[in-house]
Amino acid sequence: MFGRRVSLDAAQPALQPGGPTSQPKGQATPAAPTPRATAERAPESGAKPTGRAAPYYTLKKELLAALIEAIDVAQLTAMNVEDARAEIRIIAGEIMATRKIAVSAVEQGELIEDLCNDVLGYGPLEPLLARDDIADIMVNGCDPIYIEVGGRVQQTDIRFRDNDQLLNVCQRIVSQVGRRVDESSPICDARLPDGSRVNVIVPPLAVDGPTLTIRKFKKDKLRLEQLVQFGAISPEGATILEIIGRVRCNVLISGGTGSGKTTLLNCLTGFVDPGERIVTCEDSAELQLQQPHVVRLETRPPSVEGTGEITMRDLVKNCLRMRPERIIVGEVRGPEAFDLLQAMNTGHDGSMGTLHANTPREALSRIESMITMGGFSLPAKTIRQIMVSSVDVIIQAARLRDGSRRITHITEVLGMEGDVPITQDLFVYDIIGEDADGRIIGQHRSTGIGRPKFAERARYFGEEARLSDALAAAKVGDT
Ligand SMILES: Nc1ncnc2c1ncn2[C@@H]1O[C@H](COP(=O)(O)OP(=O)(O)O)[C@@H](O)[C@H]1O
Ligand SMILES: [Mg+2]
Repeated sequence: MFGRRVSLDAAQPALQPGGPTSQPKGQATPAAPTPRATAERAPESGAKPTGRAAPYYTLKKELLAALIEAIDVAQLTAMNVEDARAEIRIIAGEIMATRKIAVSAVEQGELIEDLCNDVLGYGPLEPLLARDDIADIMVNGCDPIYIEVGGRVQQTDIRFRDNDQLLNVCQRIVSQVGRRVDESSPICDARLPDGSRVNVIVPPLAVDGPTLTIRKFKKDKLRLEQLVQFGAISPEGATILEIIGRVRCNVLISGGTGSGKTTLLNCLTGFVDPGERIVTCEDSAELQLQQPHVVRLETRPPSVEGTGEITMRDLVKNCLRMRPERIIVGEVRGPEAFDLLQAMNTGHDGSMGTLHANTPREALSRIESMITMGGFSLPAKTIRQIMVSSVDVIIQAARLRDGSRRITHITEVLGMEGDVPITQDLFVYDIIGEDADGRIIGQHRSTGIGRPKFAERARYFGEEARLSDALAAAKVGDT
């Protein structure tokens, strides 16, 4: 049982200033309490506010305060979650009985569930975190929370009671990576125990209150067959992608945020030979490689004191010393672009990375500017030469205006003409129109190139015939 349990009658609703002294802690490493954090009130939930009258919240507020008086929350959070929940149920039941609070059994159940979420979990976020269909959760202050489902952003009827409650949940989340957020350190990236990525930015930078953005971790990453099923790519296109992965093309996957780059990268790695040694570098390990011989590396943000940062470039440079056969970079966004190209150029064929760009050509110019800005004093032409001799294929992912995600280009990098890199689309997605519901109608097709530059490579791996068949089958309009 618990250390600090006082007589229930003595437990006062602790809403007056200086309220409860025991601050609920995160499930893992508790953060050092900040002045703001300690000044906060006990967390409360508005988990399902719709249709619920104010008395529900008043009651919950009281119960929560009483509960925090009655138990040692720090000890509770150290327990396993199920035991802790059971304990909260018992104590909350007792408090309700002692105070002669009359509610229906259903309401009591919900109330207690809400309380558990507040004390042990992420308050109003809990029901959203439990849903598998949600890709992103966006909390902008204590206004209603937005989610992204099936490519579309929707407003939920879920909200935090106030910014204090929200900040409290933010603290609990970032405490798990040993950080805290406050005015002096208002930005933090963290990860939930389930692998979801979290960004927190708080006032004064976030003007309207703490802002929390969660990219939910998908346990089961989409596979290429599913992308075909969803129409993100046609079956022939999928075959081409499979061959690109198999025959060790150096690949850049380009696209906007949330366009499906990581998903696609994960699909491509599915075709890597199980005998290869792969090293992956990511900001937060998302890729789920099926091969046995994989080393996963993750960058590290600077500590609160601003020390100890390990950048993507540090990782990519280091992984060259790890005898990789392929290097996979989760997201290329800085000078590591140069090291990745070097790797591609020096016998690590089949290396891959994603980057943020809207077209394959833009992907190349982005890489060029990442290298230029990285302080390498190389002439533009040299950078371009390195680029075109390293990258074989650029695959473009896009989220269209109807929310659907498609692979819009499979493009080869051919070489240089004068100072200009030359690319050639092999396979594209054409938008034809829109149906009555605003859904985009379009089709994937090959551009008629019968023998891409990497056909030679495909031949070496015994895939040439399959490649040209897929390209021929994807041709549209000439039967
Ligand atoms: N073709 C697709 N169809 C439907 N959902 C997709 C598709 N590709 C990706 N998704 C989903 O979209 C979300 C964002 O994908 P992700 O690959 O992480 O994007 P990015 O890396 O470009 O930011 C994920 O929830 C993922 O499961
Ligand atoms: Mg990504």
